[in-house]
Amino acid sequence: MKIAIMGFGVVGSGVGEVVTKNQDILVKKCGEPVEIAHILDLRDFPDSDFKCFTKDFNDILSDPEVGVVVETMGGVNPAYDFTKKLLLAGKQVVTSNKELVATHGTELIKIARENNINYLFEASVGGGIPIIRPMYSCLTAGEATDVFGILNGTTNYILTQMFQCGETFENALKAAQQKGYAEADPTADVEGFDTCRKIAILAALAFGKALDCKGISTEGITKITAEDVAYAEKLGYSIKLIGHSTKAEDGIYAAVFPAFIPKNNPLAGINDVFNGIIVKGEDLGDVMFYGRGAGKLPTANAVVADVVDAIKHKNVNIIIKWEEYNASNQSQGESLKYAYYVRFKGVAPSNIPNCKIVAFSDKNDDEFAVLTEEMSQAQLEEFKNSLKNNQALAQMRIVG
Ligand code: HSE
Repeated sequence: MKIAIMGFGVVGSGVGEVVTKNQDILVKKCGEPVEIAHILDLRDFPDSDFKCFTKDFNDILSDPEVGVVVETMGGVNPAYDFTKKLLLAGKQVVTSNKELVATHGTELIKIARENNINYLFEASVGGGIPIIRPMYSCLTAGEATDVFGILNGTTNYILTQMFQCGETFENALKAAQQKGYAEADPTADVEGFDTCRKIAILAALAFGKALDCKGISTEGITKITAEDVAYAEKLGYSIKLIGHSTKAEDGIYAAVFPAFIPKNNPLAGINDVFNGIIVKGEDLGDVMFYGRGAGKLPTANAVVADVVDAIKHKNVNIIIKWEEYNASNQSQGESLKYAYYVRFKGVAPSNIPNCKIVAFSDKNDDEFAVLTEEMSQAQLEEFKNSLKNNQALAQMRIVG
């Protein structure tokens, strides 16, 4: 089988490395050798062992021997245009591009189905963790009720470095970039947009409906302070960036937010670049997936596993239930209840209603924090308003 790689960055070059290094294994798994025939990239790589670079997409599109194309370019354009043309030409596409899958997955999966081929995207969520395939091929006997977890390696690495190793945000981010974890524009990591795309993909697989990322409430890690971390530690919690999707009364809901996680919940112990995803099912209970969520070789392994699957399914479409969803049906979570951590300025009133725990700062007598009972967003606003002499400085949901 001749394959092509579009985008020779961190993941694309990792795919080249894995295909070369594991050739014997791939021959056994696929029943035929896997040869990289073209690598598309606008940059020059004079020192690379590969000699099949091109800057012209048509070299791939018009090569009748190329059956599978790896898209590791990232971003929506021109990856969308290229992918569509390849699928329409009967070439299977495998990708790590979560932005493209989250934005145009519905259409690309449909084109693949109509052409009896596959658009596979195992590496788009959770780096090297097998999560996409289990979602569409193993966890299919019943309905999922919830999917949530740590979906971004960069932010989990930054939070671990900052709060367990005393590193600054800037240094931790720089290290994450050097290790090849961060997006080209790391704003997508730290502001939660990357997690937003990933939870949209998981929601589509769990509930069969493609959510619009614009309707997913998204908050990153940039507002978390050392005070919040000190309260979390004191109260027995970790702080993690969480993507959550569930079926609410008024539609499918998804959100991205930093959350307090009780230390006895397995997500609390997931550190560094590792991701952890919990899928809840009515009969199934909880299933958890854990592994390296970013990085060259773990992610490349997931991409190459899709190449193998594509080769094993030439002219057989693997059915992925993933349909359009009217954005106006998307829930904004008004009916959902969470417990909250809220940090207030001022002196704590003697009697605070709807609260389980009140904690005080070791460093600052002019603030306190509470852990509330479960409440809706509207009830939380009422609760904060009821403490009218105390300004709310920070709030986070408690998950787990
Ligand atoms: N920037 C992403 C992360 C890469 O840190 O998780 C893997 O999707």
